[in-house]
Parts: sequence; C-alpha cells; structure tokens
Amino acid sequence: MSDGLEGVVAARTVLSDVDGQAGRLVLRGASLDQLAGKASFEALILRLFEGFFDGLPPLEELTLMLGRARAEVFAETEVLDARLLSLEPIEAVRALTARLADGHDLACAMRLLGAQAVFTAAVARGRLGLGPIAPDPTLSHAADLLHMMRGTKASQGEVQGLDTYLVTVCDHGLNASTFAARVVASTQSGLTSSILAGQGALKGPLHGGAPGPIIAMLDEIGTPERAQNWIEQALDRGDRLMGFGHRIYRVRDPRADALKGAIRAMAKTGSASLGRLAFAEAVEAAVLAILKARKPDRPLETNVEFYTALLLEALGFKAEHFTCIFAAGRTAGWIAHAREQALTGRLIRPASVYIGP
Ligand code: SDX
Repeated sequence: MSDGLEGVVAARTVLSDVDGQAGRLVLRGASLDQLAGKASFEALILRLFEGFFDGLPPLEELTLMLGRARAEVFAETEVLDARLLSLEPIEAVRALTARLADGHDLACAMRLLGAQAVFTAAVARGRLGLGPIAPDPTLSHAADLLHMMRGTKASQGEVQGLDTYLVTVCDHGLNASTFAARVVASTQSGLTSSILAGQGALKGPLHGGAPGPIIAMLDEIGTPERAQNWIEQALDRGDRLMGFGHRIYRVRDPRADALKGAIRAMAKTGSASLGRLAFAEAVEAAVLAILKARKPDRPLETNVEFYTALLLEALGFKAEHFTCIFAAGRTAGWIAHAREQALTGRLIRPASVYIGP
C-alpha cells in the first residue's frame, strides 16, 4: 500500500492533467499558459462543465446566469450571526454553503459557484462589523467579488488579476479536495455535499490552507538579508515552508509563474508593488537554495501558494480570506469532477488492510 495513495490512479478524467515531471498543467486540452490571463473564469467554467450538464448556454448567457445566482444566494447572508462570524472565514463560508439544498443540475452548480463569492465577501465584511453588499449581476464574477468586498468598483487591472487567479486554480487533477468531492459524488449524493467535502479538505495547511502563513513568513523575515537565518531556523524546528514542495510536481509548478505574471501585470496598472514582488523573489530564491542543499535527492520547488499569497494580498484580501478565494476558483473543478464521477464512475470503495487486534 502506498502512503497517501501516492502514484495510485483512482479516476479517469477528461478534465485536467498535471504533468509533475514536465511541470505542465492541461485543462481539457489547453495548457495553462494558453488560458491564464487570456480566458475568463466564466470561460473556464464552460470549458470544465462541457458534457456534464444539460442546457449549458453560450458564454454570455452563462455569465449572466452566474450573476443571477449570486443575487439569488445573497438572501442567505441574512443569517450572519455573531457565532458564525466568530468562525474562521472558510468555516463560516462552509456553514453557509451547507444551507444550500443538494442538487445535480446546472442551477445548483451556479448557486454553489455564486455562493463562494457572495459568502466570502459577506463574512469578510461581517467580521469588520460591516453589512454585506448586494451582488451586481451585470459584473463578471471576479469584478463582483471585489465589488462585494469593497462596495466600490475595482480597477480593470485588479479584476484581471483576480480573474487570472481563479482560472489558474480552478482545477488540478486529483488533489485531496477534488478526490474528496468525487468520493461523495460517487454515492450519488448531490453537488452541495461534494462541495462541502472539498471545502473541508482544502482548508488543511498541507493543501489549500497554505497561502495564509506565507504572508506571516514574509512579514517575519522582513528583509532579504534576514531570509537565510529565518529559513534555517524554521527548518531546524522541523517546520514545513508553506508554498514549497508538491506531491506531484518535481519541477516548478507552472501556476507559480502564471501568478507572478499576473502580479507583474497588476503592478503595471499600479495595483501591485514591484518592491514586494522583488522581496518575495529574494525569499523564494533563498528557500529553494537551502531546501536543495538540505534535501538534494528530493526536488522541492515553489508551488501555487507562494505567489497566490502575494497576489491576493495585493488585491486587499487578508490572509484569513485566502482559502475562501482558493475555494471560489476550485469550486468549478470540484463540480465538474463530481459530475464526471456521478455520470461515468462507480461507487468509490477501496479496500483496507486490518492491522487491529
Ligand atoms: C496545494 O495536490 C495538489 O495538486 C494540491 C494543489 C492543488 O492545486 O490542489 O497543488 C494545492 O495543496 C499545493 C501545496 C500547498 N501546501 C504547502 O505549500 C505546504 C508545504 N508543503 C508540504 O507540506 C509538502 O510539500 C506537500 C504536503 C505539499 C507534499 O508533501 P509530500 O508529497 O507528502 O512529501 P513529504 O511530506 O513526504 O516530504 C518529502 C520530504 C520530507 O523530508 P523527510 O521528512 O523525508 O526528510 O520533503 C520535505 C519533507 O520534510 N518537505 C518539506 C516541504 N515539503 C516537503 N520540507 C520543508 N518545507 C516543505 N514545504
């Protein structure tokens, strides 16, 4: 038996391929560099959902459907009580998502996608003592998420940055949260139940919970000169450096550079700091050199989370929101995989070896 099912093929999928040796991500036949910064998140939803839902409309209509779905689930934010707002944001969003009825159709899928944006913004504002801002169904998903967070319209550069992020993280093979979503879908349960499983798995620090601590690491290091010392001490403590290493990638995660490119584009429009990027690159270089020296036989490269942290920070999100934004993008992949499992798979029920008394 392989620990963590490493190397075990547990599904056949048309959705995405993660080539860990070549450092390549393919999403339904197109490689990430053909999509990130070029296709919108709505276009990726359509690409991922193709063949898995009856009545998939053209892009323009799907964009409006998603806007209407955000408006529809906004009513759920009336229950933002103090107890809910005292939870970690991803746990509050999970609790609100759990109130949505299970379903198998496109309308249910749209509500679940809309909900991640609406609930994240409402919870973020609620924790600041501010009321939720109603969605604007005429905006794109990325533009409306920023609008619901702030109450004002974001710049085109910021919208493009967030849209590129959502596209970059929307699907990624059989990662832990996607596998969890497929297991639930394999029992013919509904899409809401699959998304709840995905959210639960994603929040773990070994998975989607990683970006938050990266900001803390950068802030603790403070200057490039202090990087070496801080990193050595962290590794001596046995800490894992968030944003580095990957179960599949043995070379640089292609999403790291896609997100770095998005940050550079934002900097051109004044919505990101090239100085902060240069500092992060200096820390990254120090981490990679030290990990290489300490574990010469285990390639530990930058993964998607390192530059995720920088991009979301530049968009004004707090570290505690990062996993919610990750879930907002990955919900598209979770839904597509859940539908693929329900339509083409069987009940997932592996064997176990009894080592008890
Ligand atoms: C995501 O699967 C996906 O596709 C996930 C994801 C997606 O899009 O869904 O890509 C998103 O989850 C990215 C990863 C985000 N997590 C982090 O950045 C957390 C830090 N990374 C590590 O915890 C780790 O790299 C994992 C969990 C990501 C992968 O770990 P593995 O494959 O289980 O490898 P391992 O734990 O067996 O580590 C192998 C060796 C160990 O050394 P030894 O104990 O054998 O001496 O490498 C070391 C580890 O200690 N190591 C690290 C390290 N990652 C691995 N050492 C320091 N810092 C790290 N980040």
